[in-house]
Amino acid sequence: MSKEKIFALLSAQAGDFVSGEDISAQLGISRAAVWKAVGALRRDGYTIEAQTGLGYRLADSPDVLSERELRRRLGETKIVGRTLECFESVDSTNSYLKRIAAEGAPDGAVAVADEQTAGRGRRGRSFSSGPGRGVYLSALLRPQLAPEKILPLTALGAVAACDAVERTCGVRPQIKWTNDLVLNGKKLSGTLTELSLEGESGALQYAVIGIGVNCNNASEDFPPELREVATSLYLETGKRVQRAVLAAALIEELDKLYAALQSGDTASYLTSYRRDCLTLGREVQLLWQDVKEKVTALDVDEQFGLVVRHEDGRVETIRTGEVSVRGLYGYVE
Ligand code: BTN
Repeated sequence: MSKEKIFALLSAQAGDFVSGEDISAQLGISRAAVWKAVGALRRDGYTIEAQTGLGYRLADSPDVLSERELRRRLGETKIVGRTLECFESVDSTNSYLKRIAAEGAPDGAVAVADEQTAGRGRRGRSFSSGPGRGVYLSALLRPQLAPEKILPLTALGAVAACDAVERTCGVRPQIKWTNDLVLNGKKLSGTLTELSLEGESGALQYAVIGIGVNCNNASEDFPPELREVATSLYLETGKRVQRAVLAAALIEELDKLYAALQSGDTASYLTSYRRDCLTLGREVQLLWQDVKEKVTALDVDEQFGLVVRHEDGRVETIRTGEVSVRGLYGYVE
C-alpha cells in the first residue's frame, strides 16, 4: 500500500524531487519503509532517482498498460472508464466485456490488454494482438437508445480514435469506411463493435466497442501476410508511444462520444468523418456475399452509410459489406 501512496506523491511532483523525510512524515512510515517501496516501484519498471539532500524523483515510467499508469493519465470521465480492468493477457477485450456484461457489469466498463490471445476482427477474422506493442481496448455501453441510434457508434469510434491519436502522437490518421484508421496508406487500427439485442423486443441490451491500435510494432512484429498492409505509430513517426497515454486518451474520447450519442449531438463527428474519410471521391470495389463490383464513393450519409455511384449511373447507399479502396492495401485492379 505504501508503494501506491509513494507513487502518487512522486507522480504528483511531475519529475521534481521529494525528500525522504517529507514522504515518511506525510505517510507516517519509516525512512526504511520508503526505501523498500521505492525498490518495489523500481522492480515494476519505474526509474526513480535518489539523491542525498534532495530525496527521490520519478524520472521515467515503463511502457505498460497497468491500471496505475492509465489512471494517472486519465482525466475526469462521465461514464466510460469509471470501471477499468487492465490485463497482461486476455483472449479478447471484447469477449471479456461480453462475458461480464451478462453478469451485470456497469455502463462504461473498460477492459485494456497488453496482449490478446484470440483478438477478433470484423467478419470473423482474427486481429493480430501480440504483447507489448499495441493498445487493445474495449468499452461496454448500455445506452437507453433504440438500436438504430447506436449504429453510428462504429463509425464515430473511428473519429474518437483519430482524435486520441492526433492529440497524443501529433499525427491524424485517415478513415477507410467504415472504421479502419489508415496512416500513409497502411492500416493502423481497427474497430469491432458488437451489439446484444433482446430477442423478443429487439431492444438494445448493450454494445461493446473494441479498438486495436498498432503502437510500437516494428515491421517484423506483424505476421508476414500483414507486413505490406499494416503499420504502427512508431513505424510512421519514428517515435515510441507511451501506450498508457494513448489508452487514456482513447477512453476520454470514447466518453465524449458516448455523451454526444446520448444527446444526439453528433454533427461535428459527421463533419470530421467526412473530412477524414479517404474512401470518398475514389473508385472502390464492393465485396458483398462473393459479389465484386467497382463503384465510385460519393458521400457518407447521416447514418454513416456509403453513398456510391454504380457504373450504370445508379446511386445507392451501402450500409454493410466490405469496401476495398483502389491503390490501398494492395488493391490495384
Ligand atoms: C478489424 O480491423 O477487423 C477490427 C479489429 C478490432 C480489434 C479490437 S482490439 C480490442 C478489441 N478486442 C478484440 O478482440 N477486437 C477488438
